[in-house]
Order: sequence, then C-alpha cells, then structure tokens
Amino acid sequence: RKPLTTVKLKKMKQDGIPISMITAYDYPSALLAQEAGIDVILVGDSLGNVVLGYDTTVPVTLDDIIYHTKAVTRAATSCFVVADMPFMTYHGSIDATLGNVGRLMREGLPQSVKMEGGIEIAATVAACVQAGVPVMGHLGLTPQSVHQIGGFYVQGKNAVQAQKLIEDAKALEQAGAYAIVLELVSESLAAYITSQISIPTIGIGASVSCDGQVLVFHDLLQYGASEEPKKMVKTYANIGNEIRKGISEYVKDVKSRQFPQKEHVFQNEAWRE
Ligand code: KIV
Ligand code: NA
Repeated sequence: RKPLTTVKLKKMKQDGIPISMITAYDYPSALLAQEAGIDVILVGDSLGNVVLGYDTTVPVTLDDIIYHTKAVTRAATSCFVVADMPFMTYHGSIDATLGNVGRLMREGLPQSVKMEGGIEIAATVAACVQAGVPVMGHLGLTPQSVHQIGGFYVQGKNAVQAQKLIEDAKALEQAGAYAIVLELVSESLAAYITSQISIPTIGIGASVSCDGQVLVFHDLLQYGASEEPKKMVKTYANIGNEIRKGISEYVKDVKSRQFPQKEHVFQNEAWRE
C-alpha cells in the first residue's frame, strides 16, 4: 500500500470517500493502526493527556512531539503521518515558527504538521506551505486554548461564533491548508463548513457530515484512564480491561509461584563441573 498524499486526500473529498484518521504515539500503536488499514495517523499533542498524564495539552513540548513522531514514522511506512505543532511553537516570528516546523519535519519525519487556529495563523500556515510543508488546520474546540475558551464545550453555538468559524475555515483553505480538523462543532454547522470549502474536513464530535473522522487511540480502545467515555467517542474495544486482566493474572501467578513454568526456563548443569 502506497502512503496517501495531500493531493489524494483532497481527491477523496471530491470522490466522496471518507478519510479515516486515528492518533498514535509510539511504534506498536502506529503499526497496529497501519495494519488495520487507517488512512492517516496523527501524532496528536493529546499525547500530553493520554500518554504523559497531564490535564491539558499545554505542557507538551516540541521535543516530546519529535520523540513520539520518530517512533510512529518508524512503524508507519505506508500511512500518511501528521504531527501536531505544540502549544506556542508557531506563534512567534515566522522565522522562529519555520525553525520549529523544520526541526519536526527533519527529525520526526512526518508528512505534515497540524496547527490550531484560523485567521490568526493564516499567514503562518501560508509561510509553511510556501516552504513545502503541508499543513492541516484545526478549528472549533482547540484544546491548546482551553484556558481562554474556559472548558471543553461545543463551539460555534451562536451566529457570531459560527460566522467566525466559517471565515476561519476559508482563511485556512486560502492559506494553503490541505485539510481541517473540526472538533466539537454541531452537525449542521460542520455540514455547512464542509460544503463551503474544497479541502476535506475531518471531524471529532462534529458529525458524519465531515469528509473524514478522527479519534484518539486511547479513547476508541479504552486504553488507560478508566473514566466514562466522552459523548463524541465510540468505544470499539476495551483493551484496558484486557490489559488489567492479563497483568492481574501475572501478579497472581508470581505470588503463587505458578510462573514461570518449566517451559519458560532454561536447564543446564554444565556450570557445576
Ligand atoms: O491531539 C489530538 O489528538 C488532536 C485530535 C483530537 C484531532 O488534535
Ligand atoms: Na491536538
């Protein structure tokens, strides 16, 4: 299987073929996602929450993302890999931003980067695209701005906010972004934005009207924190339960000296002579 390209992703929208995207943060998760036939892997800064145990994505650094992107791209040889630009790594001068983007591209080896924001970052997106780096946008609930937004709520609820989202999406398209994640946007607004731009929208909590869907690996597989799944998430498997079960069996076997058994052990007497 040949990896997708930004050109093919845009063609998928035209052809009405949904884009499947999942996050991954390490070699085994990326390998499994690829073997399962996923189109796009996102090394999301959600790694701050689901892998590193932070409350928000704000503490995630460029070094964190590079480290995890390296592991993912070693596995994902036939998937299109997108890596998140972390909090405040693309808000300084264009030179500083291009320096950070360049490091991530050279060291992590993703095919693309993702940035949160609309009109405010349009010039930055354009500069990256001009430098040859494909950029995926991210609108609606943008977790890096959680302290400004004040929580994890549905976005674009009134006419003013909705108009801003529509203009943001158009600005990103104009700046050369090849796709946009729409997070926590009502179904009708997501459908309208999707109809107003020629680049694909990839929804999370934004309905089936988007051109594709993305979910966090640990959410859709119930891997990790055993809290109630969010409304926007469907649990496709509960590997957290399987892991807990496996490890508790192991603990039991160690405590009762049932592990290791003969077949796991090496026999040799020659050392005595
Ligand atoms: O970091 C992430 O996982 C994301 C997706 C939810 C789109 O940005
Ligand atoms: Na993210």
